[in-house]
Amino acid sequence: MTEKIEKLMSEVATLAAKSADEAEALRIKYLGRKGVLTVLMNDFRNVPAEQKREIGQKLNILKTAIQDKINELKEAAEVQQNAGSSIDLTRTPYPISLGTRHPLTIVKNEIVDIFSRLGFTLAEGPEVEDDWHVYSSLNFADDHPARDMQDTFFVESHPDIILRSHTSNVQSRVMEKTQLPIRILCPGRVYRNEAVSARAHCFFHQIEGLYIDKNVSFTDLKQVLLLFAQELFGPDTKIRLRPSYFPFTEPSAEMDVSCTICGGKGCSMCKGSGWLEILGCGMVDPAVLEANGIDSSVYTGYAFGMGIERIANLKYQVKDLRMFSENDIRFLDEFTSAN
Ligand code: DAH
Repeated sequence: MTEKIEKLMSEVATLAAKSADEAEALRIKYLGRKGVLTVLMNDFRNVPAEQKREIGQKLNILKTAIQDKINELKEAAEVQQNAGSSIDLTRTPYPISLGTRHPLTIVKNEIVDIFSRLGFTLAEGPEVEDDWHVYSSLNFADDHPARDMQDTFFVESHPDIILRSHTSNVQSRVMEKTQLPIRILCPGRVYRNEAVSARAHCFFHQIEGLYIDKNVSFTDLKQVLLLFAQELFGPDTKIRLRPSYFPFTEPSAEMDVSCTICGGKGCSMCKGSGWLEILGCGMVDPAVLEANGIDSSVYTGYAFGMGIERIANLKYQVKDLRMFSENDIRFLDEFTSAN
């Protein structure tokens, strides 16, 4: 019996299988119900009692050796089989190629970062909005021609429900529910019914700023905007405020920065003027404060709003607005190292 076991031990060590099927056949031959090991186990019954312990141990060792060998053959056969197929289960999953931030996200984060250092916190509002928050609460009268300035999308059968045409709706949403003082920044998507071209799109992104407190003045606005422009475009940047009109601010202004390409000398980017327009701003009209439940004899405020695509264009000179929403991987890849 001992001899048989030892012979089998060396036989097992030399077993080989070319496929998982062959390994399975070996398993049946050695470990199956009528296999070699079962026969041995039956013989074991006739072993004299005094040898049972020693031979039993050897049998156990043999059984484990056969099991280990067959498992090893099966695994090897599987790996070999997979190597021939397109799935390589042994391959490490790394490196995973990471995506990049969208250029609009990069610019938005940069703007948010500058204003958050000045104490502005983020606020959000709905893109599908009612007329009150987009227009009426912001001093656009029902028949106000300024409503035509922004080509509004209406929700069919709900003339009161629209896609917001500017992020200014968040101003009134915040004013109606927030304790004063208010100092917020609201980035978001806006919609306008315009034919899509290289220079216009039916949706784009804006960032709105609003500060309301006692004794807020136009000087505060100007200083904050100067600091913003210099942080964003460099310390030599100059700003210029031109009188303008918005229903929700009085006085209103549009702000230009000295051209980011020629520094003010005049080039094709600034069409020879040396200036580039980047945002609208002004002192919150007292009528807007009152419409939103704020006492305009105690509080004043300023507001500003800018298009994120516009700023991104100035920073990266993207010629066609549509690039921002087409998600062409070759375009997005160009911003890999931008941050
Ligand atoms: N809502 C304006 C627009 O979409 C931008 C704007 C101008 C926002 C002046 C403001 C502001 O808060 O004070 O064109």
